[in-house]
Amino acid sequence: METERVIRERRSIRKYLDKKIPKETLEELVELANWAPSPSSAENRNFLIITNEETKKRILEASGKQFYDPPVIVVVASNKEWMKKEGFKKRCAKWEISDDETIERHFGEWVELWGVQDAAVATENLLLAAWNRGIGSCWLGVFEEDKIRKILNIPDGYSVTAIVTLGYFDKTHEGKRKNPNELIHWDMW
Ligand SMILES: Cc1cc2nc3c(=O)[nH]c(=O)nc-3n(C[C@H](O)[C@H](O)[C@H](O)COP(=O)(O)O)c2cc1C
Repeated sequence: METERVIRERRSIRKYLDKKIPKETLEELVELANWAPSPSSAENRNFLIITNEETKKRILEASGKQFYDPPVIVVVASNKEWMKKEGFKKRCAKWEISDDETIERHFGEWVELWGVQDAAVATENLLLAAWNRGIGSCWLGVFEEDKIRKILNIPDGYSVTAIVTLGYFDKTHEGKRKNPNELIHWDMW
């Protein structure tokens, strides 16, 4: 499928067929997800692929009980502390941002934001790559992070960025988007 078609036709799928996604396919989807751009090439994204019925049930319970039985759940987690302060300062020097106050002010924001962005951009790749193979998905933003971390034994310093359900499907629906002119600001807000 051509890229534009996949981008336009992908919809959030909330009902799945009872059909297994092969392990190799899941590995290929993660490989494709990881071709997304990555701040400082950190590839700061971990994909926890859950197929175990009991674990899936516990995750869904900690995600507002929104879904009934997706064949696969992928939890995307990134390391919030991936770039230690000293490393970040070194990079700022490289970019000729040498003013200590500016670095201090932006340090937390940039580093944390990059962790989230790193995982988020790969998650979108995952959704598109899945759709291209006839696999539907839904990104879940509603979840109790502390519970998810406990269930999956996610180490300290890592945060859950996204939860994605995956599965084959037989029904999709129409999508709707704003006109780009409602979103674009030429040259200035
Ligand atoms: C960050 C994020 C969080 C979302 N959280 C949920 C969610 O908790 N439950 C849900 O059913 N859909 C969730 N969605 C999916 C959106 O509802 C969906 O993308 C939007 O309605 C547009 O529909 P489409 O994806 O089918 O085009 C989320 C999407 C994103 C990007």
